[in-house]
Amino acid sequence: MTVLAFDLLVEGKPLAVEVDGKKLCIAKVGEEVFAVDNICTHSDAELSDGETNGYKIECWLHGAEFDLRTGAVLTAPATIPLKTYKVTREGNSVTISHNSNQE
Ligand code: FES
Repeated sequence: MTVLAFDLLVEGKPLAVEVDGKKLCIAKVGEEVFAVDNICTHSDAELSDGETNGYKIECWLHGAEFDLRTGAVLTAPATIPLKTYKVTREGNSVTISHNSNQE
């Protein structure tokens, strides 16, 4: 697991974080934090180089959009959902697990 400070996160600007060897993308939405795989399921682009808008994260390369809460594909060309990861927040402390919610 990895622990980071909530106040380092900027809404709309996802962050790449390595958690026990996995490359994840962390995104703040209001008071919530979500973690998904950082590599887009369409091709080899890092989602942390793109943007979020509410619960949507958009891949900068071809414009696929995913729901941060479930990993579901919202917009083509991606067809495979992202894996999501467990995040817990206590005050300013955000803990990210390397265990996928889908495993
Ligand atoms: S690599 Fe993400 S949409 Fe193509």
